Amino acid sequence: MSAEMEAIRTAVLEGAPTDDVAGLPLPAAFRAAVVRADEQEMFEGVASADKDPRKSIHIDAIDLPELAPDEAFIAVMASSINFNTVWTSIFEPLPTFGFLKRLGKESVWGARHDQPFHVIGSDAAGVVLRVGSAVRLWKPGDAVTVHCNYVDDQDPSSHDDSMLTANQRIWGFESNYGGLADIALVKANQLMPKPAHLTWEEAAVNGLTNSTSYRMIVSPNGSQMTQGQTVLIWGASGGIGAYAVQYVLNGGGTPVGVVSSPERAALLREMGCDAVIDRKAEGYRFWSDEHTQDPAEWRRFGKKVREVAGTDPDIVFEHPGRQTMGASVFVAKRGGMIITCAATSGFMIEYDNRYLWMNLKTLKGCHFANYREAWEANRLICEGKIHPTLSQVFSLDDVGEAAAQVHHNVHEGKLGVLVLAPEEGLGVTDTEMRERLLPEITRFRRHG
Ligand SMILES: NC(=O)c1ccc[n+]([C@@H]2O[C@H](COP(=O)([O-])OP(=O)(O)OC[C@H]3O[C@@H](n4cnc5c(N)ncnc54)[C@H](OP(=O)(O)O)[C@@H]3O)[C@@H](O)[C@H]2O)c1
Repeated sequence: MSAEMEAIRTAVLEGAPTDDVAGLPLPAAFRAAVVRADEQEMFEGVASADKDPRKSIHIDAIDLPELAPDEAFIAVMASSINFNTVWTSIFEPLPTFGFLKRLGKESVWGARHDQPFHVIGSDAAGVVLRVGSAVRLWKPGDAVTVHCNYVDDQDPSSHDDSMLTANQRIWGFESNYGGLADIALVKANQLMPKPAHLTWEEAAVNGLTNSTSYRMIVSPNGSQMTQGQTVLIWGASGGIGAYAVQYVLNGGGTPVGVVSSPERAALLREMGCDAVIDRKAEGYRFWSDEHTQDPAEWRRFGKKVREVAGTDPDIVFEHPGRQTMGASVFVAKRGGMIITCAATSGFMIEYDNRYLWMNLKTLKGCHFANYREAWEANRLICEGKIHPTLSQVFSLDDVGEAAAQVHHNVHEGKLGVLVLAPEEGLGVTDTEMRERLLPEITRFRRHG
């Protein structure tokens, strides 16, 4: 680590005031987790499951880019692994360099992103180092978390719901200079206050997945769950699922959590989710072969949902995609909604449309969260009403290993990454609140 970076780290750890942080020299280069353009074909012919993020993710020294007027540099204390870290590292469904090229053509500032490397990472918690000349509300020294909605707010299509803007991007996935690096480059409109009762690594894991689940469950742009509704949640102890469970419980609904082990089932029950289905123990085979689904298995699954929840689900929280969508459309209640934000097991989807139209169900697409939704989701974390789901912590050098764990579904909740933070447990400024909420905050860590 350079002397400049060491001085930045020391200043952050000592809680240096604005003027001191603003006066710190920035390094010419910084450490970052990257994939390289000249390796984007390295896994050609390899099965998805065998594509190894440990081979494609490198820790390289990256030159500091120029700062645009509406941007900030963040000293990243901690970051997290998202499933998009996996997609980038296995170059599926497409290498992300195409996204960077497109952004590069958009403007002079966009051109900075079109590089032979991609600094990955769509979450960060840290401290503002510098702000561009047009930034009003943030200053060096501010402790922040970052949401990953990367939007040009001059574009009128962003004004109602910033997710609807024509050039909406996910920072660190469809843009460069993401959060798995000593220094991250963000638009000032991505910044949110760091929750005072959380450590750097706990604060870093929420931005992407918590905001996504907020939109899917709470927002009128999602399913807008109301009190007393039943929500079937696939992957209920995973990245987005474990926040969805919390939103359903907070909103007076009944979550029905689907997981794949007794340990995950126990974790859900600890969270207060009493209706749990272990899909592995039940041995569902929704597809009898690669091309044929088995409606008898959908019925068997539906019967189980009724058995554990007493009713069909008003809402199905969908993201596994091809493997589960047929069952999801089938089990949703008459007039219910299947809300989907992903397709981990395949995006060419097949379901029996008769169950959708004859039973007046709605299939709705959902993607990340607009500025307001991300801010509200962060506010709920700051107020201790939603809790981080951090289960394990890795160093920046081990990002490849952490991404491999997510790729192979051996993790629970979220995996954190220490970047400039030298150890776990730092960054808390509200110890009283932390003490009060400690069992909830550390639930996944104890399990992991
Ligand atoms: N559009 C967006 O804005 C957005 C935002 C966040 C995430 N995503 C996407 O959403 C997906 C999930 O993200 P995540 O962070 O929750 O990932 P995750 O942490 O890996 O959790 C996913 C969970 O889904 C379950 N699962 C995986 N494959 C399955 C299958 N074939 N059938 C049934 N369940 C399966 C697993 O639980 P069990 O094995 O215990 O059942 C796993 O814990 C990813 O594709 C991600 O890219 C999209």
